[in-house]
Amino acid sequence: MRVSARAQAIEPFFVMEIAKAAQTLAATQSSLGKMIHLNIGEPDFKAAPLVQKAAQEAIASGLTQYTHASGTHELREAISNWYLNRWGLNIEPARITVTAGASAALLLSAMALIEEGDEILMPDPSYACNRHFVSVAQGVPTLLPSNAKNKFQLSASQIQSHWNERTRGVLLASPSNPTGTCIDFEELKRIHSFIKARSGITLVDEIYLGLSFGEQEAQSALAIDEEIISINSFSKYFNMTGWRLGWVVTPLELAPTFDRLAQNLFICPSSIAQHAALACFEPSSLDLFEERKAAFKARRDYLVPELKALGFEVPVTPDGAFYCWADCRPLYARLGVDNSWDFTMKLMQECRIALAPGRDFGQHEVEHFVRISIASSLQDLQEAVSRMRQLWSHP
Ligand SMILES: Cc1ncc(COP(=O)(O)O)c(C=O)c1O
Repeated sequence: MRVSARAQAIEPFFVMEIAKAAQTLAATQSSLGKMIHLNIGEPDFKAAPLVQKAAQEAIASGLTQYTHASGTHELREAISNWYLNRWGLNIEPARITVTAGASAALLLSAMALIEEGDEILMPDPSYACNRHFVSVAQGVPTLLPSNAKNKFQLSASQIQSHWNERTRGVLLASPSNPTGTCIDFEELKRIHSFIKARSGITLVDEIYLGLSFGEQEAQSALAIDEEIISINSFSKYFNMTGWRLGWVVTPLELAPTFDRLAQNLFICPSSIAQHAALACFEPSSLDLFEERKAAFKARRDYLVPELKALGFEVPVTPDGAFYCWADCRPLYARLGVDNSWDFTMKLMQECRIALAPGRDFGQHEVEHFVRISIASSLQDLQEAVSRMRQLWSHP
């Protein structure tokens, strides 16, 4: 059967190949010990106890029917209150569309705003799926090389010099996956003001907003202007990856468009997950998420110096999310490889550590980088460091 050109244009997710190879190796007996998965982009923490309880109660009491396409009123109100109490922002519930994860929010945004041939600028490297959301909407994702000086984010001057008559906007992520870095807030203001003056789209993926570790905590892009579109999710900060729940905040006038598309494409997000997610905003759950955030920061504070001591180059210390973007060129000679894909494979075979090679995340120097996730316990990170140290000393 003929597959659409649209579907054919979507590249495979190479990280999944690594995950498969890691699973196969993990299933074989080895004196090397269990596989340590530092390739995964999901918290090791499970949903908060009150969330689990609320899900069971929702099922027991039959709160399992379709909901409003944009989400239950209670959940949109709870998210709106979170913006007010946690971020000092006044976001009307009517501007919030609840979705099946940030993924569905990104798809809705792309379908609502991008015309065939519209060019959307994003940093290289970026989260792999982001360019694919643009291309399924028949837009053109254009990756602009980013560098350590700009914390692997785009600058206003870069956007200005690439803007042409087909450019429609930007898709940024802050904190970012795979680099774990936040965009400079003043730079984001400059970017948005340039784009707004051209009636373009500033789309900011803020799925890791709650997980920022900088001296100054990250602010939501929504503080800049009501015309910024912000994507968010229950997956990361709220530790609910498999529950498939996220949201998008749009300008009020776009809400009916998003609602109409959501009705047709998804009917609604999971009702059980929505009822359960209300418990995320109970004080004890919020305390738990902050404790877990502190655990991520402690892991980052442990791992980055250790990686440097092992010989990785970490050009920018991540100030958010749970990733470290590390250049492994200085270690090639030790392992007899010349790219990060082979480096990853060798590490997996020789010491049962799985990393994500840079290949998925763009084109600019990515073949020399790996993404190392700190979403594993401190104990696992310590074990991984000790195994690498041993391998380096007896390659
Ligand atoms: C930057 C970024 N955006 C979106 C997503 C998708 O997340 P969700 O589980 O909410 O669909 C991810 C998942 O890893 C991500 O890292």
